[in-house]
Amino acid sequence: MTIRDSFSGRFGIIAAAAGSAIGLGNIWRFPYLCGQNGGGAFVLLYLICIVLMGLPIMLAEFSIGRKAQSNAYRAFKVLAPRKPWYMIGVMGIVASFTIMSFYSAVGGWTIEYIIRSVSNTMSISGDHTEQFNSFISGSYKPLAYQFAFLVLSFAIVMMGVRKGIESSSKILMPLLLILLIILCIRSVTLPGATEGLNFLLKPDFSKLTGNSILLAMGQAFFSLSLGMGCMITYGSYIKREEDLTSSAGMVAGTDALIALLAGVAIFPAAFALGIEPDSGAGLAFITLPGMFEQMAGGMIFSTFFFTLLCIAALTSSISLIEVVVSFCVEEMRIRRGPATALVAGCIFLLGTLCSLSLGIIPGLELFGLNFFDLMDYISSNLLLPIGGFFISIYVGWVLQKRITVKELTSDGTVRFTGLRIFYFLIKYIVPVAILTVFISKFLQVG
Ligand code: TRP
Repeated sequence: MTIRDSFSGRFGIIAAAAGSAIGLGNIWRFPYLCGQNGGGAFVLLYLICIVLMGLPIMLAEFSIGRKAQSNAYRAFKVLAPRKPWYMIGVMGIVASFTIMSFYSAVGGWTIEYIIRSVSNTMSISGDHTEQFNSFISGSYKPLAYQFAFLVLSFAIVMMGVRKGIESSSKILMPLLLILLIILCIRSVTLPGATEGLNFLLKPDFSKLTGNSILLAMGQAFFSLSLGMGCMITYGSYIKREEDLTSSAGMVAGTDALIALLAGVAIFPAAFALGIEPDSGAGLAFITLPGMFEQMAGGMIFSTFFFTLLCIAALTSSISLIEVVVSFCVEEMRIRRGPATALVAGCIFLLGTLCSLSLGIIPGLELFGLNFFDLMDYISSNLLLPIGGFFISIYVGWVLQKRITVKELTSDGTVRFTGLRIFYFLIKYIVPVAILTVFISKFLQVG
């Protein structure tokens, strides 16, 4: 048996899990989906998904992980021997690759934007849309930065759990929060900002399509790092005396807060600067530089912001990589170093296709999506909810209630008043909701 590293104390686990949850999903992905799906109504759907599905699944994943004390794949082998539940772990490994392929590309964009801020080349020609598009459709530059992002991630993963993941999250996540608040203040005080606030906060349900519900659900899973065993793996590092329920609440709460703040920082500014809210994956990268230009000391804020964003992306990407690396180390007996290098190489190959599909090889399309969007769609809207579905069935219907209750109450030492609600959600609401969204979406278009 290997002795598992564990997070030190309460703040450690919250910081690490929040470090995984908070990332490009909140600041890049959430605003752009929100902008394409009518604003406020999408925000509401997203928040409902966080509370009704995200929280219960996070608790379920934490419980499985801490009980089994192992990576996601082994956890199901330990808890349900000779049953196919371990396939959830296998699916998680696939999802880790598909997510990392585009995540590392966007991580690379943040590095480019750090460099642009430091070298002050952003404000020379004011057209941020043009600057963004010509950068991501280039050939070698996005790839080089993507590669750099992967190298950084893997260096941290190699250093092991406690040193790498925990210490970086502890200091930098609170800093990101503070900086975002400053950006929000600037954004809402720009002339013409109110329209953007209305867009974000006043739900207009006529703008929702069947697809929006699937996207909001996928975003809730993506944002909280759920459905692929990430929080199972992290749960295995949580000490027995820690309270899982309040930790999960804190993580989900902070995560949703950061997403909302990102929305408040971006939409008022976008409306004020005349940027279309539905301009897609570039929204944050186009709007924020425009706003920094309007700020005293803008380039300093810009440097700080993109650096923190890059670090937030790193703490998320290491959690994704950790899922695969811990599998390779613990199941396939590959040493940590070579395992990490192997995984990095595979991700880079897949990631190259994602990057290049945005410009050089636009013909790389399947089902009307370029390779980048396809990987995102498959991961967030299919693999994660399917994983979440089976995790909820497993904890709700298969795993002995005694075991789950023991985890959720830390061996009976803490009271968990929401236990009945938790069981109601995980047994009925979560699986039925996921199935309903799938059926209504895929039958309707099919
Ligand atoms: N939640 C992270 C973000 O919002 C991304 C992420 C990390 C993730 N680990 C994950 C997404 C596991 C899905 C599953 O940026």
